[in-house]
Amino acid sequence: MYPLIRNRRLRASESIRRLVRETTLTPDDFLVPLFVTEGKGIKEEIPSMPNYFRLSLDNLEKEVKELWKMGLCSVLLFVKVEDKLKDNKGTEALNPNGLMQRAIKTVKNACPQMLVMTDVALDPFSSYGHDGIVAEGMILNDVSAEVLAEMSVSHAKAGADFVAPSDMMDGRILTIREALEDEGFTNTGIMAYSAKYASAFYGPFRDALDSAPVDIANVPKDKNTYQMDYANRYEAIRETQLDIDEGADIVMVKPGLCYLDIVREIRNDVDVPVAVYQVSGEYAMVKAAAEKGWLDHDAVMLEQLTAIKRAGANIIASYFAKDFIRTLG
Ligand code: PBG
Repeated sequence: MYPLIRNRRLRASESIRRLVRETTLTPDDFLVPLFVTEGKGIKEEIPSMPNYFRLSLDNLEKEVKELWKMGLCSVLLFVKVEDKLKDNKGTEALNPNGLMQRAIKTVKNACPQMLVMTDVALDPFSSYGHDGIVAEGMILNDVSAEVLAEMSVSHAKAGADFVAPSDMMDGRILTIREALEDEGFTNTGIMAYSAKYASAFYGPFRDALDSAPVDIANVPKDKNTYQMDYANRYEAIRETQLDIDEGADIVMVKPGLCYLDIVREIRNDVDVPVAVYQVSGEYAMVKAAAEKGWLDHDAVMLEQLTAIKRAGANIIASYFAKDFIRTLG
């Protein structure tokens, strides 16, 4: 057999490698996370996320026009909320004239065809930095889900195409789906963060939004009672199947790289689109190593993004979206 089969024939030139390549990234794969802040003319670099910015609404408008021109047609919005507006009830999250609601309108006015997804969780609005309402040292489930449903309706009213609940409360997808249906938003989709792990890779994101759990008595300092234990695999499947049963249109695994076994397993198991969130810490690691000259930025980025898609991701939420487009030349 030895001389008959030579696998290297299929690797002999760039042309044959291109011909037999199984996984190719395109601009259509990407969902672009954007951080929005109050003010005018603001474009603040996030210290732990080099070349990534918080944008005021005027700059958000410029950014989405640029993204559209680059061929990137889906965004995922996050807002940085002023401290004075934070409480333990999500009051500001429901403000029809809140920053998120204005951001949605800004994107839709600037670029009507841009697909707008919104983060639905209370952490940026919470005086405690938790995704739900806190009482007696616990994150309450059902009352939090009710607020998240109201928040989703508020985003839909402002023009969001999809809401993306990232909170991991039990039953929230059904609560949100029912609220959207009741209010007539039958076409508003849900992208559920279904297998969202309690991960240390979210650090830079929490810097970006100033949304980390606060260090005060009787408030849990981590999110381990709602986000998943990263040691678990079967649980990810159960969470994802439940979200689909409750009405999720798209499911998500998060973070990316450390969880590609989960991505493959879920992709094999379900028949809805699977998204993967390559999170802030993953971005920061590549940027930091590249700044030191220790890794080739673009080569490592492309290898990681391709691995995420090869593992089964149909959608990649990534801070590298624009960097990826740049590599297309
Ligand atoms: C908020 C939320 C987080 C991320 C997305 N939505 C942080 C968290 O759960 O603490 C993380 C994204 C990233 O790190 O890039 N619920």
